Amino acid sequence: MHHASTGDFLATCASLTDDALARRLPDETIEPRRLHGAMRYSVLGGGKRIRPALAMAAATAVGGQPAQALVAACAVELIHAYSLIHDDLPAMDDDELRRGRPTTHIQYDEATAILAGDALQALAFEWLSTDPSLTAEARLAMVQRLASASGSTGMVGGQAIDLGAVGQRLSLDDLEQMHRRKTGALIEASVQLGVLSVEGASAGNSHHEHLAHYARAIGLAFQVQDDLLDIEGDTSVIGKPQGSDQARSKPTYPALMGVDGARDYLATLLQQCRQSLADFGPEADALRGMAEFVVSRRY
Ligand code: IPE
Ligand code: IPE
Ligand code: MG
Ligand code: MG
Ligand code: MG
Repeated sequence: MHHASTGDFLATCASLTDDALARRLPDETIEPRRLHGAMRYSVLGGGKRIRPALAMAAATAVGGQPAQALVAACAVELIHAYSLIHDDLPAMDDDELRRGRPTTHIQYDEATAILAGDALQALAFEWLSTDPSLTAEARLAMVQRLASASGSTGMVGGQAIDLGAVGQRLSLDDLEQMHRRKTGALIEASVQLGVLSVEGASAGNSHHEHLAHYARAIGLAFQVQDDLLDIEGDTSVIGKPQGSDQARSKPTYPALMGVDGARDYLATLLQQCRQSLADFGPEADALRGMAEFVVSRRY
């Protein structure tokens, strides 16, 4: 079970991030209104803000303050929101419920949803590349990391593998590759951008390798738990349709190794997260708590 203070940490990160996003996203009164409305609808009003919290926890682990990672947090959350809008489209998972509300293409229309996703992706890079609190070198490093985590070698590549694998039985290696890209890459980038927020683009120390291991393990654990929640979760709690993966014959960890096998694997990944942080002191407690949260979350 995760420590109660992880709940406080998550709430603090979420409120910092929500405020910044609400303030910075183009207002609905600015043309094109429907597009800006759809962007705000998709980003605001829900979401656990796990990626922002990870960026902030990573900033804390290298001696910074959560708020230093705010632009990084907002940028990864914009990419995440864009990925969810497109993931829910009829051409992809064809889901109608997200964060307890109609998905963007249901609330608006498909074209607006596609464009809102496109615009959010561009906005993430605009915010990062123009942030006055970062050095030019740090901005460039962040843009590079986020771009490769998002594109065909990261999230988009993973989504392509996911769609191509529907109805097939993947090998465990292929399934891991798919999950590492579609979900793990952006989670890894969240940790890396959090570190870059504090240290700029300065050369890494030995701690960074441990943080990279942590990020890889929690990134994969996140999607394994997401797969489990599709089976064991409750639509009203997870805020998206339970059973969607099974209905679509999606390749998932429980489909391949069974629910118990997937749970055992989660325990192994949690152990890897803990071990990666063994050399850190209390400054990594937020990262530790996030790992516990990710594997035990019910939504
Ligand atoms: C869901 O992500 C999509 C996956 C990558 C599995 P989250 O569970 O972080 O979704 P929100 O942001 O809290 O709604
Ligand atoms: C989505 O994975 C991953 C991305 C959006 C990149 P899922 O399709 O499992 O996410 P949910 O379950 O719809 O949130
Ligand atoms: Mg999907
Ligand atoms: Mg989906
Ligand atoms: Mg899922």
